[in-house]
Amino acid sequence: MRSLIDIAELSLQEIDSLIATANDIIDNPKKYADKCRGKKLATLFFEPSTRTRLSFEAAMYELGGNVLGFSEAQSSSAAKGESIADTAKTVSCYADIIAMRHPKEGAPLVASMNASIPVINAGDGGHNHPTQTLADLLTIKREKGSFDNLTVGLCGDLKFGRTVHSLINALRRYKNVKFVLISPTELRIPEYIRESLKKDNFEVVETTDLEAAMSDLDILYMTRVQRERFFNEEEYLRLKDSYILTTEKLANAKQDLSILHPLPRVNEISVAIDNDPRACYFKQVLNGKYMRMALILMLLGVE
Ligand code: NCD
Repeated sequence: MRSLIDIAELSLQEIDSLIATANDIIDNPKKYADKCRGKKLATLFFEPSTRTRLSFEAAMYELGGNVLGFSEAQSSSAAKGESIADTAKTVSCYADIIAMRHPKEGAPLVASMNASIPVINAGDGGHNHPTQTLADLLTIKREKGSFDNLTVGLCGDLKFGRTVHSLINALRRYKNVKFVLISPTELRIPEYIRESLKKDNFEVVETTDLEAAMSDLDILYMTRVQRERFFNEEEYLRLKDSYILTTEKLANAKQDLSILHPLPRVNEISVAIDNDPRACYFKQVLNGKYMRMALILMLLGVE
């Protein structure tokens, strides 16, 4: 029995195979319509979500399975003080697989150690978000054809942005990938990630200047400033509009730049860019559903 807590648990071959399955689902959806007949996915969401929860649910329905769960901690026994371990043991009696989002880093790992069914980390605090990374990887693969030789700009809240942490962790395994980390100094990438990239001799540029970095980028990954992780509302208000991508700021960008964003967008990308052929963020949403379908099949061992 296998869970997915951190993207690094998947080998490069497994990522290739998930991408191949997702592409096959896109081309032949009918072939997959009954694959999970009789199986149940539990979505345990202790933190707000639109895409991740609904996309897991849509994924399971499109595989012919069923879904149960809750979308806020207040409506679960966590509100009565139940531990993650006990919730995981209980849900193991009702479902075949769990997708869990939690504000505490490590909560899905604890769940996986206590559940008797696979647990998927659907976002743990400011730590990791491996299934968003699967959505990002399918998007990059479909747009760019390969993960090698890319210059990837990650912009916004690199400190608390769990999608950024997981994406770096995935892309660093490919050849000649360069990272340009664009953030206010207060929201720089956590030390442990910077040190680990340095140790492996990665070419990493850290800057506060999005426009100056623009012309080098093949991928621009914009992110929201993570209000819910701030200790201080004033600090959030001061930093929230640090980067707003507008058409003017794209003046020096490559013609084949791909603009990604895990969403939700607050202010980081002007809506005028939505019609630019380089905007990939709504394709990314759809890709997330297909990759979650592929992942559910893999973890349930469905052929
Ligand atoms: C992200 C998350 O929850 O970390 N959203 C998502 O799952 N697509 C990004 C965010 O909330 O800013």
